[in-house]
Amino acid sequence: MNLIFLGPPGAGKGTLASKAVEILKEALGAGHPHISTGAIFRSAIAEGTPLGLKVKAILDSGKLVDDQTTIDLVKERLARADVRGGYILDGFPRTIPQAEALAGFSRVDRALNFDIPDAAVLERLGGRRVCRKCGHNFHAVFDKPKQEGVCDHCGGEVYIRDDDRPEAVQKRLEVYRSQTAPLIDFYRGKGLLIDVDAGPPVNQVVENFKKALGIGI
Ligand code: AP5
Repeated sequence: MNLIFLGPPGAGKGTLASKAVEILKEALGAGHPHISTGAIFRSAIAEGTPLGLKVKAILDSGKLVDDQTTIDLVKERLARADVRGGYILDGFPRTIPQAEALAGFSRVDRALNFDIPDAAVLERLGGRRVCRKCGHNFHAVFDKPKQEGVCDHCGGEVYIRDDDRPEAVQKRLEVYRSQTAPLIDFYRGKGLLIDVDAGPPVNQVVENFKKALGIGI
């Protein structure tokens, strides 16, 4: 099943996606790689590749990377064999031109819209901590690592993302409203949209996700 995760910054898309990989494997018996364009950009920045050098200032400011760069990246990723059984696209598409381009090179089965009020976004991003090595998400209040600053899963350094600074968060919310939220109607119009209440604690969001896809009911 080819899935798109839509929703504002901090809605919990990445957190849920890592759990959804396991859920889909068990329910459908097929691997569904979690493909996050944000994570691909952050890893390019960490490695100092030409792509990383090109996009660093854009990510730090909370603006979007240009459509063509992002589309080319996703097109190449979706050409790999591991997506044959399906995939989870987290953070792509983010503009109408990206969605139109995606329709030209891949089928979309469902677009899940993670719905959450702005106040919860600010609370989640304000406390987000991320492992620099494996990318696992923690939260300073809701989901602390056992040892401060150290990832429970791989022992990597847990840090605060540069784009979680308050001014960058405000910019990301503005960009989301003007450029990404129109995708909700885009996919609704195609009969592919499912709303998922992303406000409750993670375990409940997992149940909402399963219900949305008719898994385990
Ligand atoms: P990206 O990495 O995609 O950032 P985002 O969409 O802004 O999403 P986030 O990663 O901030 O949030 P999330 O919804 O995954 O929440 P999370 O699970 O971490 O993109 C970063 C940048 O890359 C963009 O700004 C742009 O510059 C560029 N980019 C990426 N894609 C692009 C594209 N297609 N086109 C152009 N540019 C692009 O959760 C947040 C926190 O809340 C965590 O601490 C977590 O532990 C906690 N949490 C999660 N769920 C819950 C819950 N249910 N209850 C309590 N706490 C929770």
